[in-house]
Amino acid sequence: MSKIKILAIVGSLRKESYNRQLALAAKEIVGDRADFKLLEYDDIPYMNEDIEHPAPEAVKRVREEVKAADGIWFFTPEYNHFFPGVLKNLIDWLSRPVSDKEPQVLAGKPAAISGISTAMAGTSLSQDHLVTLISFLNMDVMNVPRLVIPHARQQLDIEGKLALKASLSYLEKQATAFISFIEKRLRNQCG
Ligand SMILES: Cc1cc2nc3c(=O)[nH]c(=O)nc-3n(C[C@H](O)[C@H](O)[C@H](O)COP(=O)(O)O)c2cc1C
Repeated sequence: MSKIKILAIVGSLRKESYNRQLALAAKEIVGDRADFKLLEYDDIPYMNEDIEHPAPEAVKRVREEVKAADGIWFFTPEYNHFFPGVLKNLIDWLSRPVSDKEPQVLAGKPAAISGISTAMAGTSLSQDHLVTLISFLNMDVMNVPRLVIPHARQQLDIEGKLALKASLSYLEKQATAFISFIEKRLRNQCG
């Protein structure tokens, strides 16, 4: 079997985003067990049906990246007990059929969810809303384990970068579980 491909989608566009740093920590943990790539999507326009056809170049690019992935790993912040609008906008674009002949690209894709926030909620509410959305879009959600990290600032180094302490072993467990989850789905497709 060739190496599985995991695409990380981070729900924050902030340069020093803790969720982006969490995704990079996951990439390191995954190591050579999978190809692990972060999706860059800050050039995606607001969803507007007036510009839907033909799809903007940035939308075509992210659709291709999602199509090529064996699994999607979301790393989402929580904004007002919800996931951020930039992530909803991206998913709205991805939710539309590619063409008359080609369906939307999220259906059937294995999905994992993690999130880190500075407050006590730790993104659990945001994650629940995301599960509702991506289940509606027929993604294959790995609900256990999910990773919720509150109080991000308690896990920073002296330079203010994320340096996971208490949460590291949970991220390791989730990475291993998601790789197995994807591999099982791929084996089922082959057999
Ligand atoms: C508009 C807004 C709303 C927020 N609402 C919540 C919230 O509901 N729960 C929470 O835990 N943190 C909340 N936060 C704080 C975020 O957890 C914090 O800004 C976090 O660093 C964002 O993730 P990032 O570092 O990946 O950008 C909010 C932040 C913003 C900007």
